[in-house]
Amino acid sequence: MKYLFVLVLLCVAGAAGLMVTIIAYRWMNDMTHTVRILPGERNFSMPVGVVPRGGAAIIPKEQRDAAAKEPNPVKPSAESIALGRERFAIFCVPCHGPEAKGGVTGPVATKFIPPPDLTNADLQRQRTDGYWHSYIVVGGAVMPAYGEALSSQEAWHVVNYLRSLAPGGAARTATKP
Ligand code: HEC
Repeated sequence: MKYLFVLVLLCVAGAAGLMVTIIAYRWMNDMTHTVRILPGERNFSMPVGVVPRGGAAIIPKEQRDAAAKEPNPVKPSAESIALGRERFAIFCVPCHGPEAKGGVTGPVATKFIPPPDLTNADLQRQRTDGYWHSYIVVGGAVMPAYGEALSSQEAWHVVNYLRSLAPGGAARTATKP
């Protein structure tokens, strides 16, 4: 009889303990067991052709040919070139070097892939403004994209600055204020 009483008592205590555990568990996890979207859980792709407010349409790297045909909407004025030079010093010099001469003139380039000489007359002739603008905004083969750091407008200023570095390019820009 005595043992039966102890047994019943143990059962009751066990059941109570289990219930308390369940309540405590649910109490602490209540907010996690609900319908919710975790940050980064779902990646919504942007519908084709959408333009961010205050931004410009970004042509993907794969369509470089189309991007290369884009005309430069920014006049290569002295202000534009100065702005481009300033942005170039911030974002590009580490790899391209202070004079955009490429090779290992930039400190990062010594540890990375040496970039080309952007002042090279042949390269300058071969590439359109749109091509380089696209290179800056969406990146190159290994060059990172700068569309997050620079606006489309700023990228055009940088292109204007690069053009001013071409042999004879300065004259071209000087005649077109
Ligand atoms: C992390 C290093 C790095 C940084 C920073 C960088 N570039 Fe480059 N860039 C490269 C490399 C490497 C290449 C050549 C390989 C390639 O095409 O990706 C290159 C190529 C280029 C080209 C030549 C494209 C062509 O073939 O005509 C241009 C123009 C250029 N970069 C401009 C810029 C500008 C402007 C910036 C700053 C907004 C910049 N880069 C920042 C590494 C860099």
